[in-house]
Amino acid sequence: MTEWIGTANRGFASLAMEELRRVINGIKITQLTAGEVFRIEVPLSREDMLDLLQRNEPIFLRHIQPIDRILPIQGNADDLQALSDLVRHARMRCENVTTAVHYRRVEGTRFPYSAADTKSVLDAVIMELGSETTMQSPEQILSIFAGVDELYVGWGTPAEQLSDWPGGAIRFQREEGQISRAKFKLLEAERAFKLYLEEFREALDIGAAPGGWTHLLLERGLRVTSVDPADLHPSLKAYPRLTAMKKNASDVKFPPGTFDLLVCDMSWSPMQMAKLVLEKTDALRDGATAIITIKLMHKKPLQTIRDVIARLESSFQLKKAKQLFHNRDEITLYLVKNN
Ligand SMILES: C[S@@+](CC[C@H](N)C(=O)[O-])C[C@H]1O[C@@H](n2cnc3c(N)ncnc32)[C@H](O)[C@@H]1O
Repeated sequence: MTEWIGTANRGFASLAMEELRRVINGIKITQLTAGEVFRIEVPLSREDMLDLLQRNEPIFLRHIQPIDRILPIQGNADDLQALSDLVRHARMRCENVTTAVHYRRVEGTRFPYSAADTKSVLDAVIMELGSETTMQSPEQILSIFAGVDELYVGWGTPAEQLSDWPGGAIRFQREEGQISRAKFKLLEAERAFKLYLEEFREALDIGAAPGGWTHLLLERGLRVTSVDPADLHPSLKAYPRLTAMKKNASDVKFPPGTFDLLVCDMSWSPMQMAKLVLEKTDALRDGATAIITIKLMHKKPLQTIRDVIARLESSFQLKKAKQLFHNRDEITLYLVKNN
């Protein structure tokens, strides 16, 4: 038996739980933060659980940390001392690896220390053990989650925890003159799916306005054809590599094999979106990549996702489906066009 803390985007924990229940018999789940963070008990070893998650990664599970130790919270200075002692006694875990300390909490926790204080004390303990702490690309993460009365402590690699950000809440710097927050979705997709956007040459952006995604693709050096009945931000006119078509995507046609990347963020009925994307597949080269958001309608989101994927699989291979931190009522698909 092992215990874990799972995190989903706010309001989507029930879907993450449903996905987990489907693949793990005998799982027990209790809520820690409503709609977002939950504690899981599974009749599996750590290795078997990690292996299972790797093979069936739930779309709505944004982050998972093992619970290696549980510390009762007293609500006083002893708490940080006890946590420091726990880490000090785990010297072996810190040997020869760089470690990041992540701290999260439920509202109303009795643990009296701030994230900054907790982290600086634990960073000092880890350094005292002769090991290095880092926030950038750590080899392992020491994750601490403060519940109301208990601290849950676990170690894992970023890949095991599904993210190298606390709780999977990845943040990007807001830029001056940023066209839309939507840009963060594509930036996150690039990292989450290990894509290198600059390796593509010719992109088609469907549902492009106001142009956050188009802007990122132009910044990465691609030629971009953007299609949207709405206007793109005027600043994009400065890019000679941009072709802007102020049209409905169903009214445009392209020569076969024109694009090696399709991005589509239409916030539209999922089935209509799938139909429209399939109409454009001839315009894509074999092996072209597609990054597509699926808007979640109110009814049966998991079924909608399965239906859309099944439809797209007539022309694409699904690489990954994930609700990213920057997705709101949607998920993101990473697909590759069949040869
Ligand atoms: C969420 S916004 C896209 C945001 C964009 N990714 C960005 O980064 O700025 C959705 C866009 O899809 C467009 N859209 C909806 N249906 C469309 C269609 N059939 N053809 C083209 N664009 C469409 C809307 O006009 C809207 O501008």
